Amino acid sequence: MKHDRKTALTGLLTRSTRHALMVTAAAFTLSGCGGDGTAEDQVYLIKFPHVTAPGTPKGQTAQRFKEQAEARFPGRVAVEIYPSSQLMNDDDSLEALAFGEIQMIAVSLSKFDRLTHAFQIFDLPFLFPSLAAVESFQSGPTGQALLTELTDKGFLGLAFWHNGMKQFSAPRPLLVPEDAAGLKFRIMESDVLQAQVQAIGGNPQKMALGEVYQALQTGAIDAQENTWSNIYSSKFYEVQDYVMESNHGYIGYLVAVNPQFWQRLPDDIRLGLEEVLAEVTEWGNAQAEVINQEARAKVAAAGRGEIIDLTPEQLAQWQEVMRPVWDQFAADIGPERIAAASNVQVD
Ligand code: LMR
Repeated sequence: MKHDRKTALTGLLTRSTRHALMVTAAAFTLSGCGGDGTAEDQVYLIKFPHVTAPGTPKGQTAQRFKEQAEARFPGRVAVEIYPSSQLMNDDDSLEALAFGEIQMIAVSLSKFDRLTHAFQIFDLPFLFPSLAAVESFQSGPTGQALLTELTDKGFLGLAFWHNGMKQFSAPRPLLVPEDAAGLKFRIMESDVLQAQVQAIGGNPQKMALGEVYQALQTGAIDAQENTWSNIYSSKFYEVQDYVMESNHGYIGYLVAVNPQFWQRLPDDIRLGLEEVLAEVTEWGNAQAEVINQEARAKVAAAGRGEIIDLTPEQLAQWQEVMRPVWDQFAADIGPERIAAASNVQVD
């Protein structure tokens, strides 16, 4: 994607100009969808690019959405999934959705940082002890309100999808925070993650997922944090000597569509797709932990990238050093959101 367009979108355009562009783009997408123009024979094409491999929680859930949406609306809905950053990276997909060039995304919550501070809650280190805790927060009133947080900016959230909990990987064992001092860590595009790495004495580098393997291989960066499924499918364990089971944070996604595109779908199709999405979301979120544990087992079996379990005492040190990040971002995120997340009940 051209840099000049991105600059125009994020910097120079006023919000109302941007909104007008989005409406035009969404209208174009619908009218340009084939058929002879009657609503009955129009095929509604949903282009859905994402950055992870087909076998990851997101890859599998996106594929299931395609299969079920097309089976429910044969000849009327076509879903094209582009995994593994094949079509574009996440940053570009945010722009492309706003312009109506694509119709659906599932971008990591961390990467909406420049659009809202509210999602920063998902990056606070050690806030959520498990996927079950995240699930409980997301399905409660505070979490559900986040789905529509970005509607007026061109992103209607329809669901949250899980990936999993993050682990650190590095060229040396990171048993306690001091071990991270001076290492260059790849992070997603998030100021909270930047502060988190600074808190442990590391040097954070924001970078798209598709560039990380090579950056680790060439030594442009030293270390990274990600889920087991991403560490396995992106082969980071091949170029990292140690993976620490730290479970220090969460990666999950906002599944979003352009609001104008969505509202202009015929009612039966929109409501049907929402039902399909609810169904595959439940399926995918129930699989996510299993897929990550399978990926962990494959990393262990590969015999490269030694897995290190941290003791409760070591984990307590990481928690203590990272905890000030909460205070740094509490006002932006909203203390009431943090309180709601901290108080979730998990069965
Ligand atoms: C990353 O960039 O590491 C993650 O956003 C990848 C993903 O989508 O799981």
